Amino acid sequence: MENPFRPGAGHRPPVLAGRGREQEHFRRLLREDFATENLLITGLRGFGKTVLLDDLKRTALAEGWVWVGNDLSESASLSEDRLALRILTDLAQSLSEILVQGADGQTATSKHAQDEAKDDLDPTTFEALKTKYERTPGLPSDKLKSVLGRVGSILTRAKLRGLVLAYDEAQCLSDHAQRDEFPMSMLVETVSSLQKRDGVTPILLVLSGLPQVFNALIAARTYTERMFHVMQMERLSRQDTAQALFSPMKPLMPPLNCPPDLFEKVVDLSGGYPYLIQFFGKELIDGLLKNGGILHKDQFPSPDVMDRLDAGLFAARWNKTTDKQRRFLKLIANRGTNRPNEFSAIEIAALSNGSGEFDSSQANQLLLALCERGLIYRTRHGRYAFTVPMSEAMILRRIQVEQDVESSWATISPPPIPIAPLTPEAPPPPKTKQKHKSNGLLGWFN
Ligand SMILES: Nc1ncnc2c1ncn2[C@@H]1O[C@H](COP(=O)(O)OP(=O)(O)OP(=O)(O)O)[C@@H](O)[C@H]1O
Ligand SMILES: [Mg+2]
Repeated sequence: MENPFRPGAGHRPPVLAGRGREQEHFRRLLREDFATENLLITGLRGFGKTVLLDDLKRTALAEGWVWVGNDLSESASLSEDRLALRILTDLAQSLSEILVQGADGQTATSKHAQDEAKDDLDPTTFEALKTKYERTPGLPSDKLKSVLGRVGSILTRAKLRGLVLAYDEAQCLSDHAQRDEFPMSMLVETVSSLQKRDGVTPILLVLSGLPQVFNALIAARTYTERMFHVMQMERLSRQDTAQALFSPMKPLMPPLNCPPDLFEKVVDLSGGYPYLIQFFGKELIDGLLKNGGILHKDQFPSPDVMDRLDAGLFAARWNKTTDKQRRFLKLIANRGTNRPNEFSAIEIAALSNGSGEFDSSQANQLLLALCERGLIYRTRHGRYAFTVPMSEAMILRRIQVEQDVESSWATISPPPIPIAPLTPEAPPPPKTKQKHKSNGLLGWFN
């Protein structure tokens, strides 16, 4: 029996629940004759940005648009030129898929487009696009505009509706004024200028990334706020969560038998957070399978399940932190249940007043270091939040696990280290009796 749930970055879920409004909005955009709006998809880690993007791609292709996109790694986006080359590479890749189809024949559209393309530019090869880019005088944005404009007219003649430029992890695009590199501004300016030109094939920009991408966009150009419709990925409603869990499970019951109170417990455990829906869904099915098809509510989740959760979602970032950062994170995680999501250096320094370990300037430095490690991000001036939802609970679990290990050793004094005599005549060191306190382990041997 195959487990239908798919926890993992960018893994398409069996049911994409609760995103109907976003899908509908995008479909409407595609049907407009003039592109007036672009999309910005933001949300915390694991909220389903990548899988939504993948779903929008299918819609765009079905509506006759060309989808050009990628996941922006840090290196691809550092400079304007590198971003432009990334786009040309993705453009050639997508166009070669559309314009050069299966070996046994091309669609009329693609054949026509290829004939058109033979004029002077073959848009299906990176070399041709790059040559056009390099031969155009001006800044990277002028060069990119010229290539995209030319490709657009090829697409129009081929009766394709337009071009979607879609980039995931777009927070990596932030401008770097200190290095004189403005990749985000370059992209936004290029698209905005093409969208204003008459007679150019519609082009839509879809960016997706962590919440800080919004600030990066606003910082890029004053008008960007008006260029984008923001889709903020929130957790799913209780009803959508139940649907995301129940629909994939239904065909497996019977032979599996999940009692209603256990099902409700899993819905609540996930809290509507998409990654957790897939994670607990998968663990539930695995647990049922291992247990002969049925589980009692109290048997789930086992401690192993919670360990796997922390390891999958959190461990990589946690393992990069220092002891001092962990003490600081513990303070943040302990700041009370009814707290707002955001926190500031001053608030955390005030919390540490008892121990006096962190003053507000140290707290500031630690917050910046934790931002670099990807555990938190800056929400607005001077305020921060966790990038992974439910980080607080995970931090406290991690610290508890570490403390349990420590205290399991704390009651034992280390065994004596034998010291070799300095000279053959020297008397052997007196034998001292080392007292071992038992921590209960010896009981196993009785
Ligand atoms: N609407 C949804 N319904 C059910 N499951 C979903 C939904 N959206 C996402 N998921 C699941 O959540 C997990 C995370 O999705 P995804 O990788 O798209 O998140 P993300 O926001 O791109 O995360 P990151 O910021 O780490 O890239 C995947 O396992 C995916 O199958
Ligand atoms: Mg993603």
